[in-house]
Amino acid sequence: MSTTSLTQSPAWKALQDHHREISGMHLRDLFAADPRRGEEFTAEADGLFLDYSKNRVTAETMRLLFALAEERGLRGRIDAMFRGDKINITEGRAVLHVALRAPKGASIVVDGKDVVPEVHEVLDKMAAFADRVRSGAWLGHTGEKIRNVINIGIGGSDLGPVMAYEALKFYSDRSIRFQFVSNVDSDDFAEATRGLDPAETLFIISSKTFTTLETMTNAHSAREWVLAGLGGDEAAIAKHFVAVSTNAEKVSEFGIDTANMFGFWDWVGGRYSMDSAIGLSTMVAIGPDNFREMLAGFHDMDEHFRTAPAEKNLPVIMGLLSVWYDDFFGAQTVAVLPYEQYLKRFPAYLQQLTMESNGKSITLDGHHVDYNTGAVYWGEPGTNGQHSFYQLIHQGTRLIPCDFIGFGRTLNPLGRHHDILMANVFAQAEALAFGKTAEQVRAEGTPEALVPHRVFEGNRPSNVLLAEVIDPRTLGRLVALYEHIVFTQGAVWNINSFDQWGVELGKVLAQRIIPELESKEAPDLKHDSSTNALITRYRKLRVGG
Ligand code: F6P
Repeated sequence: MSTTSLTQSPAWKALQDHHREISGMHLRDLFAADPRRGEEFTAEADGLFLDYSKNRVTAETMRLLFALAEERGLRGRIDAMFRGDKINITEGRAVLHVALRAPKGASIVVDGKDVVPEVHEVLDKMAAFADRVRSGAWLGHTGEKIRNVINIGIGGSDLGPVMAYEALKFYSDRSIRFQFVSNVDSDDFAEATRGLDPAETLFIISSKTFTTLETMTNAHSAREWVLAGLGGDEAAIAKHFVAVSTNAEKVSEFGIDTANMFGFWDWVGGRYSMDSAIGLSTMVAIGPDNFREMLAGFHDMDEHFRTAPAEKNLPVIMGLLSVWYDDFFGAQTVAVLPYEQYLKRFPAYLQQLTMESNGKSITLDGHHVDYNTGAVYWGEPGTNGQHSFYQLIHQGTRLIPCDFIGFGRTLNPLGRHHDILMANVFAQAEALAFGKTAEQVRAEGTPEALVPHRVFEGNRPSNVLLAEVIDPRTLGRLVALYEHIVFTQGAVWNINSFDQWGVELGKVLAQRIIPELESKEAPDLKHDSSTNALITRYRKLRVGG
């Protein structure tokens, strides 16, 4: 790895010079200059096809970006992660979500111990449990079959499971209803359990630490809800609660038999955990075979990331393109636009993956960065976004690189729907890139006063990702693709993508404020004047309620 600071490095400076040369170029000109551009600026791996031709890059840009990756030691960092080095330096941990999908027989050693056999032990235990729930062999306390599974967790212990459940709903057991409770807001718990029979309901308490305030508050309410519904018999807990955690002590303190606990390890970050035991609800929903297919998809992309040369490496290409826009064009966000309704929670999932990972401003060696890091990732499934925020992407003042995700086939063929859907992917990417000139607008007979309003400047970049169909294997590949995009970005920015100290302060302050809200006596408030006044007002509103 280079020790020169990023912005002083030769590759960075070369990119700055190059940016000055090409930032004025229009995608129209780039396409006109090279009729084969649409075929050349593409890459394909594991059934995912990437067209990145509609980006504001030339072959020289890509060469310089690959040189930047090389100079920043990306290859060495990838190897260090796969080797199990403790690359999460602020927490002294290895970063080994890739071990969660390593096939049986592979070997990855952490602290002198091969972790792959343990991973498969847990997977086997999960599979046995999932089969019992799905087949009806696992019965509730009063002998009822489980018809409702509720995952309680937050952040990585929720977003992955709920995203995967929605993404793979087509493959799920429809006789079981799945709910996900994350928010400490009681509305969430109340609505998820409304009308459900506790006798038929199984809770999966998913928390790496088993101390997270939201999850433990919801878990205790669930416990009371079950006990109230089943005559208060504590023995019911064992039949209606299982846990996914790294903290056996806390799990057993809560009253869950550790025989019904599914473990994972401190080398799995929360936002990288949907393929660990945190995916238990996913496995119950889609079955162990489909879950293993999903893991195989993750592994496919891991191998591609680990071995493919940069020029053919999808995560490397996409990661570098986002750095190009963040740091040289000043773009602040990336829109992820899946044209697949089953991926409706994918942008929400990516928010945590990308922003909790790369929302950092301190380098690995403890210095403040002098460049942009972590873009804001956001999005909605197409075509809904087109009738909402695409206006700004087409004609607003900001540059918003877009990732379009589309599929060759739908799981629910219905008349012309899918062709219409996909026509919109291609149309949007085309419109963003090429726009519509004033001459074209005039030629349509538009009154002169309206011409400027109807011009589309174009030159707005996008990637188009195409796959055959949404299935477990493809989902695994897609999620791993973005995990490794995040890794690539973090390596270039020289930040730790695997800690999340930024969530701590708010947690601590909330713990201090809770008793101030709950105390009978007026508390002696020692916050700033705004916080004091808000707490006082809330206490009045609360009494009135
Ligand atoms: O928000 C911080 C965080 O630590 C996330 O990284 C994590 O996914 C989430 O809280 C939940 O943590 P746990 O699984 O320990 O309950």
